[in-house]
Amino acid sequence: MIDRLVITRPDDWHLHLRDTEALAAVVPFTARQFRRAIVMPNLRPPVINAGQALAYRQRILQALPPGTDFDPLMTLYLTDNTTPQVISEAASAGHIVAVKLYPAGATTNSDSGVTDIDNTLATLERMAELGMPLLVHGEVTDNTDVFEREQRFIDRVLAPLARRLPELKIVLEHITTADAVAFVNSGRPGLAATVTPQHLLMNRNALFSGGIRPHHYCLPVLKHERHREAVLNAATSGSERFFLGTDSAPHARSAKENPCGCAGIFSAHAGIEFYAEAFEQAGKLDKLQTFASEAGPDFYGLPRNTDTITLVREPWQVPESYPYLANDPIVPLRAGETITWRMENNLND
Ligand code: NCD
Ligand code: ZN
Repeated sequence: MIDRLVITRPDDWHLHLRDTEALAAVVPFTARQFRRAIVMPNLRPPVINAGQALAYRQRILQALPPGTDFDPLMTLYLTDNTTPQVISEAASAGHIVAVKLYPAGATTNSDSGVTDIDNTLATLERMAELGMPLLVHGEVTDNTDVFEREQRFIDRVLAPLARRLPELKIVLEHITTADAVAFVNSGRPGLAATVTPQHLLMNRNALFSGGIRPHHYCLPVLKHERHREAVLNAATSGSERFFLGTDSAPHARSAKENPCGCAGIFSAHAGIEFYAEAFEQAGKLDKLQTFASEAGPDFYGLPRNTDTITLVREPWQVPESYPYLANDPIVPLRAGETITWRMENNLND
């Protein structure tokens, strides 16, 4: 049994950092483990142009603990009104590496999202020309059953789009189904997916174990065990089409433990440890480095990190909560329970 694992420093290719005091509360967790992260633009109001993205990046850098070398990679929020010019400006501004598609109403803060992908074709063509990837929240927003929204989105929107714009780089974010795995595996070059820890470690039973579990609610929602197995197999296969994206999405406890609780799971306190646990369960710890540290930068055309992190088998107990907003803490994934692996020099030391 392996008790110690050294891997190239990982990056997080899908992360929510929020803003103001929430940002200051969560960003140290990510900066401790990951060298870079793709920062999602779904603030209120959303980040829709280069000026806003660079200003947000400055606020992130200011919130970092001194001495950290964390590099936030910024994204724009695609709306029906995003012009090709906005994309060109973002590409030449530096630090902005992708554009996020939220179908309007699909998830947290997606009200300004795209109502019809056809409205954005000229903009997507410019992205394809510039090599700027489209990051996709892949769920339809109609009355489709909540467990079938990803499959329906692939059939109805994503597969036709990938055919229509063969040069556009696309990341299907936080995949949850065997259908998404099959789509990405069989797709053309320039097609990849991120995978969260929760979709590797839990199936939809976790939403209802012993009672309703708001802290296990995220979007896309947890799925049937057969889908979890398919996603786990893909992530641990060694294929460069699947890489790490925690989708750590903090919400204060009062917003989660609520009659209409928010979607989003906070996992940044133990991002890489959760993945190590999932990979070990699959007997594929040897594939963790490809997934966590190589496939992402290779897809984005960025250099791989050169330093390393060390994971040790040293079970530790996750706190019941971490400070977040004044008198409203955050409940992390696996609060009060044990995690098998620990990254050395982790914040929880
Ligand atoms: C995310 C959030 O809270 O911003 N929530 C979630 O459940 N994943 C939005 C998203 O990525 O869908
Ligand atoms: Zn997300």
